[in-house]
Amino acid sequence: MESKERGKGQRVILMASPFQGHITPLLQLAHILYTNAFSITILHTIFNSPNTSSYPHFTFLPLIASLSDYEASNLDAVRLTELINIRCVNPLKECFHLLLSQDKEDDRVACFISDAALYFTQDVCDHFGIRRFVLRTGGPSSFLVFASFPLLKQKGYFPLQESRLEEPVVDLPPLKVKDLPVFQSQEPEAFYKLVCRFVDECKRSSGVIWNTFEEFESSALAKLRQDFSIPMYPIGPFHKYLLPSSTSTSLLTPDKSCISWLDKQEPNSVVYVSFGSIVAISEAEFLEIAWGLADSNQPFLWAIRPGVIRGSEWLEPLPSGFLENLGGRGYIVKWAPQEQVLKHPSVGAFWTHNGWNSTLESVCEGVPMICMPSFGDQKINAKYVSDVWKVGVQLQNKLETGEIEKAIRKLMLGDEANEIRENIMNLKEKANLCLKEGGSSYSFLDCLVSEILSLKSSTSVCLKSH
Ligand code: UDX
Repeated sequence: MESKERGKGQRVILMASPFQGHITPLLQLAHILYTNAFSITILHTIFNSPNTSSYPHFTFLPLIASLSDYEASNLDAVRLTELINIRCVNPLKECFHLLLSQDKEDDRVACFISDAALYFTQDVCDHFGIRRFVLRTGGPSSFLVFASFPLLKQKGYFPLQESRLEEPVVDLPPLKVKDLPVFQSQEPEAFYKLVCRFVDECKRSSGVIWNTFEEFESSALAKLRQDFSIPMYPIGPFHKYLLPSSTSTSLLTPDKSCISWLDKQEPNSVVYVSFGSIVAISEAEFLEIAWGLADSNQPFLWAIRPGVIRGSEWLEPLPSGFLENLGGRGYIVKWAPQEQVLKHPSVGAFWTHNGWNSTLESVCEGVPMICMPSFGDQKINAKYVSDVWKVGVQLQNKLETGEIEKAIRKLMLGDEANEIRENIMNLKEKANLCLKEGGSSYSFLDCLVSEILSLKSSTSVCLKSH
């Protein structure tokens, strides 16, 4: 049978964690499976529900999990994830009852794929006899660190101590204590507990799907294969599969006017600045960034998400006349069409918070990074970008205009800039090759499809008993 038809008659149910950096790769994965002829059902919370109109060929089912508006707008991402793990148990069971009751010879539930953070889904799947695969939206290199949390705690690294920040973490080279993940949650232990729980439930799953490629993170993947006795499927980069141009995974509307501004800039000259969908910065940091960009003399495109500056709606802290005084050298949008921006020949550097999607998108387009990580996996990603893959520089010390100018210059001019550019162009080429027939991601996707299909009989048997 033609490989693209293999999933015919089989349905994959997927559920995302309701945050942009998690929704995007899950929808992309769903589309990859759809192009292998699987039918797709997406389960989602009402909070941050995906843009269903972009995917008329998917079935969307909301889980009514009674998160109040107050909770949705006041709890941090870790606390919200905790609540979802508690409150979605019964709605997910109801959904499974419904979906399994609709099971037909030519439309069978083949498996369930959930975001790693939704660890509650493993027990529910076990209850219904549905096999669960995990989508981990971060990379394997950072996941290895998450999997070491109990060891790190036992060795006294947590909570992180100011006086130890420059110490190496001997079990996890090349990390220093300052590179370990933190999350300032409203409940101090919540992040640690969430991570330990989702790592444990990954181990009970049928396999982990990664938005990365073997050649990029081979040593982390090798270690995970050694430590976890389940298959690992590095089938990324997801966004480089052929997706229809009409599909959008964005929760906010991208401002495409920046593309015609980019068209007018010199090749490789523009610094693109964006800190993703969750990071927030102080007003003082915002102003340092603004003056750093102004003093750098490089053109810049800055995606300033409303709410990114703590305590402000949008641009109120920006000094009046700031952009006008730069004579067209700077351009600001609320939300950029990031993939398109990174592909643009005028873009020469990406000043990023190193969320995994942004990091991978930058690598795939060969755009060197200025790293300013904030929480979660971002510090680990940034360390790998600067010290392992050597495709960017980290902003060291305090965020101030002199430092910023220095980093921009280092990345865009001089010997080190050439070396960094060469490294990232190498990775870009590997990212392209891995998706071609015979490439690593192509082959792992083939294995994943085979594995999902090999599970169908066991699931079908269980369907009958519910
Ligand atoms: C979060 C975490 O912060 C991150 O560390 C984790 O790896 C995934 O979840 P987020 O902060 O949003 O994600 O960052 P990132 O993973 O980079 O995802 C942001 C996505 O939004 C990217 O796909 C990026 O292309 C898109 N984006 C961002 C835009 O399309 N336009 C913008 O202006 C900014």
